[in-house]
Amino acid sequence: MSRLFRRKPLDALIAEGGEGEHSLKRALTAVDLIALGIGAIIGAGIFATLGSATSGGTGQPPAGPGVAVSIILTAVVCGFCALCYAEFASLVPVAGSAYTYSYATLGELVAWIIGWDLVLEYAVGNVAVAISWAAYFRQLMLGFGVEIPAWISTDYRSTLLAARAAADGGAAGLSPELSIAYQAHLQHPVLFGVPIVCNVLAASITAAITWLLVRGVKESARFNNVIVVLKVLTLLFFIGVGAFFVKPANWHPFFPGGFHGVWTGASLIFFAYIGFDAISTAAEECVDPGRDMPRGIIGSLVICTILYIAAALVLTGMIPYGKLVGVADPLAAALAYVHQDWAAGFLAAGAVIAMTAVLLVFQLGQPRILLAMSRDGLLSPWFAQIHPRYRTPHVTTILTGVFVGFFSAIANIDEIVQLTNIGTLFAFILVCIGILILRKREPDRPRRFRVPFVPVTPLLGIGMCLFLMAGLPGLTWIRFLLWLLAGLLLYFLYGARRSRLATAA
Ligand code: ALA
Repeated sequence: MSRLFRRKPLDALIAEGGEGEHSLKRALTAVDLIALGIGAIIGAGIFATLGSATSGGTGQPPAGPGVAVSIILTAVVCGFCALCYAEFASLVPVAGSAYTYSYATLGELVAWIIGWDLVLEYAVGNVAVAISWAAYFRQLMLGFGVEIPAWISTDYRSTLLAARAAADGGAAGLSPELSIAYQAHLQHPVLFGVPIVCNVLAASITAAITWLLVRGVKESARFNNVIVVLKVLTLLFFIGVGAFFVKPANWHPFFPGGFHGVWTGASLIFFAYIGFDAISTAAEECVDPGRDMPRGIIGSLVICTILYIAAALVLTGMIPYGKLVGVADPLAAALAYVHQDWAAGFLAAGAVIAMTAVLLVFQLGQPRILLAMSRDGLLSPWFAQIHPRYRTPHVTTILTGVFVGFFSAIANIDEIVQLTNIGTLFAFILVCIGILILRKREPDRPRRFRVPFVPVTPLLGIGMCLFLMAGLPGLTWIRFLLWLLAGLLLYFLYGARRSRLATAA
C-alpha cells in the first residue's frame, strides 16, 4: 500500500529539471499570465463546440440562446479549479504539469492516474481541435473558390448522423447546405461497396504540426502574444459584424431545453475553457504569484467569458439554434447564412490560425508529459528517446501525432469533446482533492500561492466538476471508465514494478 503512495523526492525533481529552481526567471506579470491563458483557451471550443452546445448536437437537449448561462456556469467552475491548480503548481518549485506536481506531493499512483488522464485532455482534446480546424479550413478555401470535397473533411459517423437528422424531416433542424457532414453524405464515393468518408484534412494538419515539432519549434512569448491579439480580434470581428444581423425573434424561447439544456450545454462548452491550467504552471516564474496568479487566472477567465457570451448571443440571434445541428463551423456558417460570405471567409482565416496555435500548444505538451512518465520508469524507456540531431522527444511526438491523426480522421467531434471534458474534469477533481490533503498533511510546506477560503473553494470545485461530469452522456462515461481501467492495468503490470522509485528501493 505504502508503495503506491511513494513520492518523488523534491531534490530529484529539481536536479532533473536541469536548470533547477534558481534559474527560472521570475519575470511574468499578471498581463503576461492573462496572455498565456487566452493563448491556450480560445480555440475549437468557441469556434465549434458552441454550435453543438446551442443546438444540442447529437442527441442532447439544446441550450439554445441559454448557452450564455452555460458559459457563465462553466467559467465559475473553472475559476475554483484554477485557483487550486495554482496552489498545487506553486508547491513544487519546478516547471511541469499536474503529473509532475502530484508525483512529488500525492504519490506515484495518483501521479500515474493524472498523467494517464491528461492524455484525454491533451491528445484527445487535440483530436477535436484538428476536426474543427478542418471544417474552418474548408470554409476558408471556399472563399478562394476552391472546394475541398466534403468527404475528405469529415468522418463517416458524422455523415450517418447528418443523414439520419435530415431523414427526420428536418425535425432536428438540420440545415443541409450548412452541414459538411450532410454534403459528404450526398457526395461520397463508394469503393467495393464501402462508403469512403475520412477526414484526411484533419489528419494532414496533425501530420504537419507533428513534423514541425519533431524538427523543433519553440513557443515564443512574442508569437503567443501575436496569436492572442489575433484570436481576440477574430471573435470581436464576428461579434461586430454579426450584431447587425441579429433578429431578437431568434432568442425566443431563450431556454428551449430548459435547465437540462443549460446543464448539458455547460458540460460541452467546458471544452472552450480547457487550457487555463497552463497559467497556473507558470507560478514559479511570476514576479509576485500571490498577487498576480489570481489576477491572471480570473482576468483571462473574465475576458474569455465576456467574449464568449457576446459571441453566443450574436450567434443565436443570427440563426435559429436548430439550424446548427451537425454544423462543424458554426460561426462561419452563421455569417454565410446571412449572406456575408466575405465575413465568413475572414472569420475562417482567423479561426484557422487560432486553432493551429492551440494544436501546437497541446501537441507540444503531450509528448513532454509522456517523456516525464517514461523517465520516471512508469513507461518503457523507449519513449524517452531524444532525437540525436533535433534534440526533440521525437518518439513521443510522433506517437502523439499518429494517435491524434488517426482519431481525427474517423471520429465525431462532439463525442471527442465529451471524452476530453470528462477526463479533464476528473483531473481537476484530483487536483482539488490534492489541495485538501496537502493542507492537512503538509500545512507548513512553502507555497508561493495559497487558495483563499480552504476548504470551501476546493470543495466547491469538486462539487461543480462532478455536476458537469454528470451532464455528459452514458457512453462517454463508459469510454472514460474503460480508459481509466486500462491505465490502472498498465500501471500494475508495468509501472508499479519498473518505476525508478521502485527499482531504487
Ligand atoms: N480550449 C481549447 C479550445 O477551445 C482546448 O480549443
